[in-house]
Amino acid sequence: MGKMTSQEYMDREDRFGAHNYHPLPVVLERGEGVFVWDVEGRRYYDFLAAYSAVNQGHCHPKIVKALADQASKLALTSRAFYNNLLGEWEEYMTRLFGYDRMLPMNSGAEADETALKLCRKWAYKVKGIPRNEAKIVVCNGNFHGRTITIISMSSDPDAYNEYGPYTPGFINIPYNDLKALEKALQDPNVAGFLVEPIQAEAGVYVPEDGFLAKAAALCKKYRVLFMADEVQTGLGRTGRMLACDHENVRPDILILGKALSGGMFPVSCVLADDEVMLTIKPGEHGSTYGGNPIACRVAMTALEVLQEEKLAENAERLGAIFREEMKGIRSEMIQTVRGKGLLNAVAIKPVRGKSAWDLCLGMKENGVIAKPTHEHIIRFTPPLVITEEQLMDAIGRIKKTFSEMGF
Ligand SMILES: Cc1ncc(COP(=O)(O)O)c(C=O)c1O
Repeated sequence: MGKMTSQEYMDREDRFGAHNYHPLPVVLERGEGVFVWDVEGRRYYDFLAAYSAVNQGHCHPKIVKALADQASKLALTSRAFYNNLLGEWEEYMTRLFGYDRMLPMNSGAEADETALKLCRKWAYKVKGIPRNEAKIVVCNGNFHGRTITIISMSSDPDAYNEYGPYTPGFINIPYNDLKALEKALQDPNVAGFLVEPIQAEAGVYVPEDGFLAKAAALCKKYRVLFMADEVQTGLGRTGRMLACDHENVRPDILILGKALSGGMFPVSCVLADDEVMLTIKPGEHGSTYGGNPIACRVAMTALEVLQEEKLAENAERLGAIFREEMKGIRSEMIQTVRGKGLLNAVAIKPVRGKSAWDLCLGMKENGVIAKPTHEHIIRFTPPLVITEEQLMDAIGRIKKTFSEMGF
């Protein structure tokens, strides 16, 4: 049998898979750096980078080697036993990010769940909130993953509809609203504030300068844990190692995922100090795969690559160029351009029936793949290994697509 066409691959997924995604019609089979190739051999600039998991670029040779070497030595022990790498990774992480301890998980959602559990334990054991009455403040427009508890905090009907009953204990406030935050924090049963430094999934909403620092200060004033979900904003994406670094904020609980493995496979974690982390005792939380030897080796290597290749600096410099170039495009369809580092979005106004989806289809034909979020916003988040020359080439293709739309 000859090789299948893209259409045949798509039809097979459509026939046998759940319909919980609506992918762009492109079937990828290979990746290297900023590029991916489809099954027909066409090359694309990847301007999604697996929702910022592939910050280090596709199939980074150093990370691939770490994965392969460790996979052939020891892959999984579970936490029933020690392994020789977990302590090394924990020490590496706590020194790099400046915390007492780390707790490893796999997906971003699990890391967020871990943060919520730590916050509740701390509420009862340290802050002294009456049992089962702890509340956590979250923001409208948040995206922290897909578990029942996490969608219970969501303000997006697509995320929560018909998944009730919901987990109680959350207070939703508007994003980037310090007054609303302070009002919420006055409730003595509030234990934590969970926030994305930039709301990426919602459409790359950047809060006003100073918001994070002021929010963290308010949390301190009311003795509430400031929990930063840096699953998407972290690890170089916004032009700093952490998005919180832009405002010199040190979260009480730091949540990381995605690029922690350079896109190799799911690795996530939370970092916190003893007062928080040691509230959980043996048997009270865990994960079969969390802290597995491959994860340890891959995560350390992925972080080395970020630092050695100065990817945060690259994101800062090229991000500014990207926004300038996008702002320079004359098209009725461009409403706003916003972002930080290489986490950017263009809000699209549909013109004569042409939408953000049509633009993404057009960009695909011109060799750049990206995906709309919330229908009218296109997120542009290439791997951070992109060079200026590659960026300018991709921008040329994006501009060409806008001009092909005709307005
Ligand atoms: C800020 C944030 N938190 C958590 C998650 C969930 O991560 P995962 O899909 O690995 O569960 C995401 C995923 O997009 C995210 O952007």
